[in-house]
Amino acid sequence: MKIKIAVLTGGGDCPGLNGTIKWVTKSALDPKMVANRSISFEVIGITDGWKGLVEVDPEDQRSCARYIKPLDEEIVRTWDRYGGTNLGTSRTNPFNPKNDRSGKLIENVKKLGIDAIVAIGGEDTLGVAYKLHKLGIKTVGIPKTIDMDLAGTEYSLGFDTAVNIIMEEIDRLRTTAGSHGRIFVVETMGRNAGWLALRGGESSGAYIILIPEYPFDMDKVCELLRERQGREIKYSILVAAEGAKPLGQQEFVKDSHVDDFGHVSMGGIAAYIANEIQRKTGLESRHIILSHLQRGGTPSAHDRLMARWFGVAAIDMIVKGEFGRMVSLQHGEIATAPLEGVINKLQLVDVEKYYDTERYNGRRTIL
Ligand code: F6P
Repeated sequence: MKIKIAVLTGGGDCPGLNGTIKWVTKSALDPKMVANRSISFEVIGITDGWKGLVEVDPEDQRSCARYIKPLDEEIVRTWDRYGGTNLGTSRTNPFNPKNDRSGKLIENVKKLGIDAIVAIGGEDTLGVAYKLHKLGIKTVGIPKTIDMDLAGTEYSLGFDTAVNIIMEEIDRLRTTAGSHGRIFVVETMGRNAGWLALRGGESSGAYIILIPEYPFDMDKVCELLRERQGREIKYSILVAAEGAKPLGQQEFVKDSHVDDFGHVSMGGIAAYIANEIQRKTGLESRHIILSHLQRGGTPSAHDRLMARWFGVAAIDMIVKGEFGRMVSLQHGEIATAPLEGVINKLQLVDVEKYYDTERYNGRRTIL
């Protein structure tokens, strides 16, 4: 049996995507595949996520050259050490109710002779994979999002690298914060979930961590800062997720632009907090938005490993005919989970378990 698989990356990029594409390709084209599992594969990469499958014209050679990249072991050999996605990505939603192009996508999949799709992405990308599966297209998913808010898995690609970047940037900030005796408010990504802020803040020893799951009281933040005065402490680092919000207020958004999946661009909470601290306490405060730096650069060892295992597992799933599911990490082991479980459901920080609501920080109890 010969199976043609298409692999694509959707949503925000992150380190680890290229490694997954490499291991999907290498596992599928493993010379032992035919002998051991009686299946042979052909692998193509689709450029720019779902956009590629919607916009490609299968009858036009130039269009195919633009959106379809045949992949083999030689092409992907070095990809695992690089960040970003060599296939490109987009936030195109083929099921956007204002412009539903899912019919075109399905027609293209058939015309291109694609037997199965490996979709690497977060809630939005995998939500599309689930809808396609319901419409008879064979899909498997691989979880990716630096926000770590995807349901059904303990790990999503990109998170570990992003946490390391947050920690490294905060290490850098400390010297200048200390020299000037300033407060620094660091804004991380994380629109709905505070995982990046919490784990980045905990690993870098931030004094205050603010997460979307627990709206904060600005007076309480100032009180915590005042408590430190008089001690031998020259500066304080606060970490705030972009989706963190003051009690009784909405999240801070950058502008009115809404993407294909209905998301607004967030940003501005760190500037607000720094201004308020300075205004209310007189302590000199600065803010910094780490923004896309968190998604840049090369993958950490953990992301390279997870990329490899997720890629290998996706091919196992196809061999076993486990469609409509995604690779997932459960109890520290590679497993699979239904794609249905990622729809309209996010994995948020369990405040009671992980967050100290008195200190606005990670808990000091574990068990
Ligand atoms: O994919 C999620 C995310 O990392 C969010 O935390 C953030 O709001 C968003 O990406 C920003 O993405 P972009 O600016 O690349 O569209």
